[in-house]
Amino acid sequence: VKRVLVIGIGAGDPDQITVQAVRALNQADVLFSIDRGAGELVALRHEICERHLEPGRRPRIGEVAEPRRDRSAEDYVAAVQEWRRGRAEVWERAIAEELGDAGTGGFLVWGDPSLYDSTIAVLEDVLARGREVFAIEVIPGVSSVHALTARHGIVLNRVAGAVQITTGRRLARDGFPAEADDVVVMLDGQCAFTTIDDPDVEIFWGAYLGTPDELLISGPVTEVAAEIVSVRAAARERKGWVMDAYLLRRRLAE
Ligand SMILES: C[S@@+](CC[C@H](N)C(=O)[O-])C[C@H]1O[C@@H](n2cnc3c(N)ncnc32)[C@H](O)[C@@H]1O
Repeated sequence: VKRVLVIGIGAGDPDQITVQAVRALNQADVLFSIDRGAGELVALRHEICERHLEPGRRPRIGEVAEPRRDRSAEDYVAAVQEWRRGRAEVWERAIAEELGDAGTGGFLVWGDPSLYDSTIAVLEDVLARGREVFAIEVIPGVSSVHALTARHGIVLNRVAGAVQITTGRRLARDGFPAEADDVVVMLDGQCAFTTIDDPDVEIFWGAYLGTPDELLISGPVTEVAAEIVSVRAAARERKGWVMDAYLLRRRLAE
């Protein structure tokens, strides 16, 4: 039976890849490459492959086109469903055409495949269409959350505490969640941390984690928010893209 490996490759540092992921890369007959993202991210993926593929091992690269997503549609849910259907169709075709009956394909996933990534869901959609049969194997990766905590040298939770992982959009809409003391925020294009005006909240921020352009800032959010906004804007201007994540930590009463 065909195998499809979903391989977590870490969040930017080519050294932050597991031995299991390296083995998986070297088992793949085809590595599927999804046509999206900044050119530099594609280059980083190439670097990871170059570094970890055994000499002489050259898996085919199966290009997978990304269907257009209608972000202006009034019916957001219907537009997302349509986009997902389009992706399942394209991926199904790629798996049918590129993988022989007992072939092994690999999808390289940024960070860890379980965190804000749709690769597993799209593959489940392909299986649900019923035309292609394959086994999915997920290989975990170092997520940007763990790259962030490691670089700041901090523990994610407090003793017996709860941690929430959320998006910038939700933070901006709902404020600091009442049910958590530590909140990791990802996918924040709008600097939602600027909406937090509580002097007892600290921020641990990181951009381009694991890459030579890495940026780290930490401190009380009300004191460092403006600095993060300007450092982030300047980096984005310079590079044309930015990827950042942060932890918001509420000081606990003594
Ligand atoms: C689509 S999600 C994918 C997350 C990924 N699966 C992971 O495990 O980190 C993309 C978001 O992850 C975060 N991210 C991923 N890589 C990062 C990096 N190298 N530095 C900072 N943030 C990163 C950012 O919040 C970005 O908006």
